[in-house]
Amino acid sequence: MKRAITKENPYKLIFVCLGNICRSPTGEGVFQHLVNEKGLQSYFQIDSAGTSAFHIGEPANSKSQWTANQHDVKLNSRAQQFQQSDLKEYDLIVAMDKENLKNIKHMDKDGSFDHKIKLMRDFDPTPDDGSVPDPYYGGMQGFENVFQIVKRSCENLLNELEPEIESN
Ligand code: 4NP
Repeated sequence: MKRAITKENPYKLIFVCLGNICRSPTGEGVFQHLVNEKGLQSYFQIDSAGTSAFHIGEPANSKSQWTANQHDVKLNSRAQQFQQSDLKEYDLIVAMDKENLKNIKHMDKDGSFDHKIKLMRDFDPTPDDGSVPDPYYGGMQGFENVFQIVKRSCENLLNELEPEIESN
């Protein structure tokens, strides 16, 4: 997953959940926010998608947006479905839970992109069962929990990638 990151060849990440309206838009928004804070916008292209087609075209869930806004993070995504061609397109594919990881890996028929496909909680110092819990059917507490997991995982992910940046 690591390579030289330059302005000419920015690092491309995509966060993936089921609906692309709760967890992966939070990943996209939080990672973009952290990148912006460090002035590294030219070095990263950040996106999100869902493994399902349930919510294509929709903005992030209002509870996800409200929670992110409480932390000064804006969620600007419109839901799109993860495509097989995305396996080649992105440098890093971050699945929000094990079910979505399995579905993405299933699309990678001969395993040639296996090294790019990770779990969000691979970057969490307290990974629990490895999945970011689906907040969709629960209350606000679940959305705040998602935000906190995603925030600390994205901080660690950016810390891992930052040494690969080659500025000139
Ligand atoms: P997400 O949450 O995968 O974090 O966007 C969900 C959104 C919608 C559904 C399930 C999970 N749904 O069943 O429609």
